[in-house]
Amino acid sequence: MAINSSDVGSLATARRTGVKTIVLSLGGSVLIPSLETNTLSAYAEALGRLADRFQVFVVVGGGGEARRYIGCARDLGVDEATLDELGILVTRLNARLLIAALGRAAYPCVPETYTGARVAGLAGRVVVMGGVAPGQTTDAVAAVLAEEVGADLLVNATSVPGIFTADPKRDPDAIRYETMTPAELLALVSRERLSAGSNTVIDLVAAKVVERSGCPMVVLEGRDPARIVDAILTGVFVGTIVAHGACSPLPL
Ligand code: UTP
Repeated sequence: MAINSSDVGSLATARRTGVKTIVLSLGGSVLIPSLETNTLSAYAEALGRLADRFQVFVVVGGGGEARRYIGCARDLGVDEATLDELGILVTRLNARLLIAALGRAAYPCVPETYTGARVAGLAGRVVVMGGVAPGQTTDAVAAVLAEEVGADLLVNATSVPGIFTADPKRDPDAIRYETMTPAELLALVSRERLSAGSNTVIDLVAAKVVERSGCPMVVLEGRDPARIVDAILTGVFVGTIVAHGACSPLPL
């Protein structure tokens, strides 16, 4: 897709007027645990509110439907990379559903590359995308996108309220980090194994990119999207801040 001079002009205007950019990694487990149990309408409303004040990019995960497809194919003996490709297709379908829920507030297509997402962002609407390449999760896509667009904040909305010393769903003694540095996050997730449909809170690629980009990240439980809006606008939330400095990136 070619970028013309008026596109570049509108990007420059957005920068001049100080519009801040948010990238939201929206776990499929919170947006679409299954097609029957989804938070699409509530998210469309919340994202519409954020889009009034910020340039918003959303990267949508695969959720329960991706796990069902991956599980079915794994039973057929399919290799992990092909399972990832299936997962990516489902993330893009989920992205399409969120675009439908957002209506005119959204850019109407699902970008399949980072450059495509940047170009879509020039239209000033909410840009929604899914996975990009095997061997990672949508957290990594969101981290790279945040780096490419120079985001002011990366928000990771997932099924647990932050980053813990262990998986809080399995270990009742797990303790939540209030804040941590990107290097500490990297050390924590380096122990995890990545397989298609894996459940780790942040994947290793995402942690590495957050570490190198320095983009501040907030990890919180995402089932109630109103809480995400509150976190961004007021700075009051339960979760984990991953940042270099002592200063909180919130409120934005
Ligand atoms: P995610 O793991 O990102 O979605 O993608 P999720 O499970 O819904 O996210 P959470 O747990 O709620 O936060 C689903 C699967 O799609 C493949 C992987 O197999 C991943 O587990 N995928 C996704 C890729 O291979 N590459 C991508 O860039 C994105």
